[in-house]
Amino acid sequence: MYQRPRRNRKNTSIRNMIAETNLSVDHLIYPLFVTDLKEEKVAITSMPNCYRWSQEAILKEIESCVALGLNHFVLFPAVREENKDKVASYSYSEENFYLHVIRAIKERFPQVTLMSDVAMDPYSSDGHDGLVENGEILNDQTLPILAKMSVAQAQAGIDIIGPSDMMDGRVGYIREALDDEGWTNTSIMSYAVKYASAYYGPFRDALDSAPKAGDKKTYQMNPANKKEALLEAMLDAEQGADFLMVKPALAYLDVIHVLKENFALPVTAYNVSGEYAMIHAAVKQGWLDYQPVVMETLLSMRRAGADGILSYFAKDVAQWMKKI
Ligand code: PBG
Repeated sequence: MYQRPRRNRKNTSIRNMIAETNLSVDHLIYPLFVTDLKEEKVAITSMPNCYRWSQEAILKEIESCVALGLNHFVLFPAVREENKDKVASYSYSEENFYLHVIRAIKERFPQVTLMSDVAMDPYSSDGHDGLVENGEILNDQTLPILAKMSVAQAQAGIDIIGPSDMMDGRVGYIREALDDEGWTNTSIMSYAVKYASAYYGPFRDALDSAPKAGDKKTYQMNPANKKEALLEAMLDAEQGADFLMVKPALAYLDVIHVLKENFALPVTAYNVSGEYAMIHAAVKQGWLDYQPVVMETLLSMRRAGADGILSYFAKDVAQWMKKI
């Protein structure tokens, strides 16, 4: 035998030398939920070790992540029912605690990367990402609302705007609104390829943001489609996106790959709440071994082509890496 591939696997140092893919804490973006409730932290049943943090507590949480070398965060607001309305007006109001939290974090930790969520659902009494009229999700009428939300977040100091709503034309619309107000350095990470997925269930529990009626299939993509991902990514790239995200990640590794092959922009993957809950459930049963399964899962996303990964596992990974 001339070729014995096992020779290149004979010990850890050789395996490490020729590893084609790596995962570092720099690749990870940690999603955190914030509320304006008094309790320091409220557990989320379907997402073990994830909490809705109070405004005070989130600063401490971020401090502990920074100490582990984890410096990228994406924030999601859990909004009180009484602050929701049809037009998501609270999202860009001065009162919005989410904007205060962004400001407080950037004041205290100017070096961290802070990303937002832009969509109507956390603020919408209909629980949809866009404006609802007679059961229909209106596209063009939603855009000015998303733009106001984005400008308010930019004013608060956000580094990256994260439109997760899947309305057509929103990236360009938001880019123009940001530029008009002088926020030319505020980045956009577009949820370019976001599927209508059953894997978002635990996240909607975390924010009480499930649609009150209907589903999201008229704006989020059909899981059957891959070419359409190229179309969505192309439009967002043309409209000024700085990053292209694929969401969910694990069931869509082929989509991550095809985007990476076809675009020069950084590609990110969202390792979503259902993917997180699945692993935790199996580990709790004693059926899977937590650390190796998490590392293998995240590595598979990197191997598929993800430059960055949004993941609820980020802090655990940072802890493991600190020990090495
Ligand atoms: C809302 C939004 C969702 C997620 C991120 N932003 C849910 C949805 O589209 O219903 C899901 C994240 C996750 O499941 O971890 N625009």
